[in-house]
Amino acid sequence: MTKRRTKIVATLGPASSSPESIEQLLLAGLDVARLNFSHGTPDEHRERVHRLREISARLGRHIAIMGDLQGPKIRIARFRDTVVTLQKGQPFTLSNLHPNDEGTESIVGIDYPSLVQDCRPGDELLLDDGRVVLQVDSVDDHAVHTTVIVGGSLSNNKGINRRGGGISAPSLTEKDHDDIRLAAELELDYVAVSFPRYGRDMEAARELVRQAGSHAWIIAKIERAEAVVDDAALDELIQASDGVMVARGDLGVEVGDARLVGIQKRIIQHARHQNKLVITATQMMESMIASPLPTRAEVSDVANAVLDYTDAVMLSGETASGKYPVEAVAAMARIAQGAEEEPMTTRSQHRVGTSFERCDETIALASMYAANHFHGVKAIISLTESGNTPLIMSRIRSGIPIYCFTPHPVTQRRVAMFRGVYPVPFDPTAYAPAEVSDEALALLQRSGVVQPGDWVILTKGDSYHSTGGTNTMKILKVE
Ligand code: G6P
Repeated sequence: MTKRRTKIVATLGPASSSPESIEQLLLAGLDVARLNFSHGTPDEHRERVHRLREISARLGRHIAIMGDLQGPKIRIARFRDTVVTLQKGQPFTLSNLHPNDEGTESIVGIDYPSLVQDCRPGDELLLDDGRVVLQVDSVDDHAVHTTVIVGGSLSNNKGINRRGGGISAPSLTEKDHDDIRLAAELELDYVAVSFPRYGRDMEAARELVRQAGSHAWIIAKIERAEAVVDDAALDELIQASDGVMVARGDLGVEVGDARLVGIQKRIIQHARHQNKLVITATQMMESMIASPLPTRAEVSDVANAVLDYTDAVMLSGETASGKYPVEAVAAMARIAQGAEEEPMTTRSQHRVGTSFERCDETIALASMYAANHFHGVKAIISLTESGNTPLIMSRIRSGIPIYCFTPHPVTQRRVAMFRGVYPVPFDPTAYAPAEVSDEALALLQRSGVVQPGDWVILTKGDSYHSTGGTNTMKILKVE
């Protein structure tokens, strides 16, 4: 069987932080570990990173780590008795002035004063990812008065969304600023930004990440209705990011679950078209929180994201707090690999008929065309500094593995997220320029990936250490 191309992001939490479980997750197929900054203390995250780095080094694996910022999730305060039950048709008030620990069946506090400015009579507010729905009747200076349309139990600190979006919280909070500094301290590879609306939200996040001294790539979580209102809005957000996450929890609440699948496909397609990464997330294996086997619907969800050509599929509660974290990763790996056997995942119409902007992009895309069409090509070697050349290559559907040859540990870890890309530590400056290609090929042959008689495509530039310089594609025969 060929190597799995779609990468697996798994969230580390209480169920998956011991050294034994981290090791098992790695062996089951984890490629990227996610730290969810909405939960856990900085010291817990430090400990996880420390263990991951130690175990992955011991296993000879290059694992990326992504820190996921909490963002300005708007939440209700707390109830006197932790939980209340709301009945359909009853009145319920959200108030800026109500004491934070004194919520009741008729009123609860909120710590977000501008909610009253953002709401109009007739709006629908969705609480707890839509499990409870309220209709706004009236708004005064300090409170939003509503009628319950979908009742149920409601507990402390549940999130509030508005149907159709439009709640105007800033996109980075004080806590996010602290967590960005933590991401820099821990040298995380990716930082995911929650609830961005515009490209400028991502630029602001990037600025903070760089100021903190981090090299992390920035992922926009697509989860607001405004972000997908039209193609221009979506493209602007993608353009300002290094990658995006289809964050289906909040997105599904804001746009309605019925629109979600079509929008997921559009996000994946647009991200790839702009040479950006894309992660598909939320509830992919939800039932595995409590059961060792996925449902058919979950199998289908993961396989469909793979067929849509997502870079990575993500697990949240399944690995963070579920009963079967290792089984969830293993199931995802198995399903992804099975779906990848479908011929449609290796044929590409990507950007056929469009023109290219850059020399390295042209070489990267031409190499994939050659690899997909020249029978006998078994591998691609891309000499790279930043990972950009293999990133562009991996936007094209293919069954040929792309080996990212780079001396930089940062790049070796980063490409763990890219579909079909596998890192190989290699320093071209250690060889005479005329010998670099042969040395790279020999290394691949020693690792057993290619045999005499196979063809390999290699890309590089004229200098051996400058990013953006790729201008050459060679076709080499393994002797
Ligand atoms: C390595 C190669 C160079 C190439 C560069 C591309 O340094 O030795 O010849 O130009 O990678 O790096 P990039 O970051 O653009 O993928």
